[in-house]
Amino acid sequence: MLDLNAEIASHDSELKRADASVDAMASSLCDHWYPMYHIAARAGWINDPNGLAFHNGRYHVFFQHHPYGTQWGPMHWGHISSDDLAHWDREPIALAPSIEADRDGCWSGSCVVGDDGRLYAFYTGNRWVNDPSVTRDHLQVQCAAVSRDGTHFAKLGVVVPNREGLGNFRDPKVWRQGDVWCMIVGQQSPRNRGQIALYTSSDLLSWDYSGILYQSPDPCVRMLECPDLFFMDGRWVLCFSAMGMKPKGYMARNYNNAGYVVGSWELGRPFEPLTDFRPLDWGHTYYAPQSFATPDGRRVMFGWMSDFSFDTPTMEDGWCGQLTLPRELTLRDDNILLSNPAREISCLFDVATEFGRVDLGTDQELQVVPDLRCGVIDLTYDLESTTAERTGLKIHQTSNGCHLFVAYDVQTSCVVADMRCSELGTRGYRAVPVSGHTLRLRIYADKGSVEVFVNDGEAVLSELSFPGDGACSLVLASESGTTAISDLSYAHECD
Ligand code: FRU
Repeated sequence: MLDLNAEIASHDSELKRADASVDAMASSLCDHWYPMYHIAARAGWINDPNGLAFHNGRYHVFFQHHPYGTQWGPMHWGHISSDDLAHWDREPIALAPSIEADRDGCWSGSCVVGDDGRLYAFYTGNRWVNDPSVTRDHLQVQCAAVSRDGTHFAKLGVVVPNREGLGNFRDPKVWRQGDVWCMIVGQQSPRNRGQIALYTSSDLLSWDYSGILYQSPDPCVRMLECPDLFFMDGRWVLCFSAMGMKPKGYMARNYNNAGYVVGSWELGRPFEPLTDFRPLDWGHTYYAPQSFATPDGRRVMFGWMSDFSFDTPTMEDGWCGQLTLPRELTLRDDNILLSNPAREISCLFDVATEFGRVDLGTDQELQVVPDLRCGVIDLTYDLESTTAERTGLKIHQTSNGCHLFVAYDVQTSCVVADMRCSELGTRGYRAVPVSGHTLRLRIYADKGSVEVFVNDGEAVLSELSFPGDGACSLVLASESGTTAISDLSYAHECD
């Protein structure tokens, strides 16, 4: 019989092999669309943010990483750290498949600082089951690893087995609730319902099953990936990435969809929702977010700016996948979660150039900056004095006219991210309904992405953008009517 354990090399040598592979790929990387200020791997594939933590004075971001190619593959945990959430230092790969339980991948999970000051990582050990007599195609368990320095991890093995033999059982998120450690895990029930299971522990090592925290009321939702639960302003916010949800109006239009519900919860009871599902981001490219608490008590979230539904042109460049900016979350009285760029990232941009008020005539276009591939744009529309049917900004516009259009559509009262004229990548558009007499947009452009923050974080749209060579201009456009912009400024990304 095949002895799988004997075939698996030690963790250390697997990590070295993985880092060497990234070195080799990085040496021939094409950085045409490689981000200037978003997190990506040195080379290779990445997806979900994992293990967000503040440990020994540094922020740690881990991420799902395939170091042997630009497609998804056997998952490792890549790692990057920072002392200010804005400038990041590369760290060696933290976790690689090396034990029987994680032999086919160290899937998503989270980190906490234990009572002993060490950093504990909880992740899903994935094994493919090539056995035609079972219906599931993978066997997933929750594993742990521990680190003194936040960089080198010793594996502790399986801490939560798969009691029911579920096919999908993953993405442990751990936090401390008073004296108790809590872990939530996403799962697909035997009846194909998306659920979140709760486990509790007093020592982070032995865990007891404490029941189902939440089941999606939507019978189409078969699995809830990457669950996250936190307390904010007297309410609990439950986030997850839902598989199987059907599009409804402007919502849930992606392959899988990440969002949240607000409710009440106390230990020993299920979560009670007060709201319906609402997207955390309305763009084409956002999935699998995770949040953590900063030392000063803010809740900061990173997401993965993509999903599994399409290939990107960067795959030929030696890399694929990037994270969103860190987003600071706050909860409005009406249970809308506001997401704004973490304040720390303002140091990444030069002093802003102020335009002040700008008026556009019917069908007028106005070039604001001849070349702004990376930077931030702030503007406020005076909608009461605007007669245009659509008014917006052409971002990353190259000499052939290709661009990504971020606009306000008067007829639908939506902010849209319209990809129909973009050079490469996804077509179509995404939209989010807004209200009010003014509209504030803050737009971050990087070499391969655009993030649009609407009305101080009431909604965000994340998009990948792959402009061609040459200057990327920024152009205002007012379609079928006039536009009044009460305030406009922009700043380039610092060199
Ligand atoms: C979400 C996800 C997780 C899983 C990981 C595997 O994007 O599917 O559920 O742990 O990615 O890479």
